[in-house]
Amino acid sequence: MDEQLPGRPTAHSRVTLSKIMTAVDVNLYGTVHGGVLMKFVDDVAGAAAARHSGGTAVTAAIDEIVFLEPVRVGDLVHAYAQVNWTGTSSMEVGVKVTGERWDAVGDPIRVATAYLVFVAVDVAGNPRPVPPVLPDDMDDRRRFKEALIRRDHRLARRAAIQKARAE
Ligand SMILES: CC(C)(COP(=O)(O)OP(=O)(O)OC[C@H]1O[C@@H](n2cnc3c(N)ncnc32)[C@H](O)[C@@H]1OP(=O)(O)O)[C@@H](O)C(=O)NCCC(=O)NCCS
Repeated sequence: MDEQLPGRPTAHSRVTLSKIMTAVDVNLYGTVHGGVLMKFVDDVAGAAAARHSGGTAVTAAIDEIVFLEPVRVGDLVHAYAQVNWTGTSSMEVGVKVTGERWDAVGDPIRVATAYLVFVAVDVAGNPRPVPPVLPDDMDDRRRFKEALIRRDHRLARRAAIQKARAE
């Protein structure tokens, strides 16, 4: 995989999905099920990865997902995704989820944050190279650096577990 593709700015991959939560989305407590939000996050992240890589990309890992506030039936939920970092065939996608309460006036509140790794694949399902992401501004440069920290931690954790298993 020595092909060098031209870079793409972060803005190229930005995608927003919005959805009103309904009664079929709830858990036993009556708030929106975490799995419903996880699928929503995976969908929007997949769209950003496909946009950046110009084709199919599969979810390889969910690095982190944090639920900050409960979401309720009737809330209008928005998920914002962008590619933060690129490797050779892999990409980190960051997702911010906000919610507008159906019964309250005010700014949307942050309800979840997630970081996922996608790998671009060809028709045979083999990894294919992705264009390097070109961070647009200071925030995107910060996100790029933070993605590298998450990657380093992920690889270090995997190496430590493999070492412990070999002992
Ligand atoms: C993701 C997948 C394509 C990787 O294939 P692979 O042959 O193991 O890939 P390689 O070991 O050659 O690694 C390719 C890239 O994937 C990354 N990768 C592989 N597994 C990973 C993991 N668990 N977490 C993060 N990155 C991973 C590698 O770091 C590498 O990145 P780079 O090219 O930027 O350096 C393959 O494991 C797969 O198809 N998994 C199932 C995906 C799926 O079904 N998802 C759910 C539905 S979309």
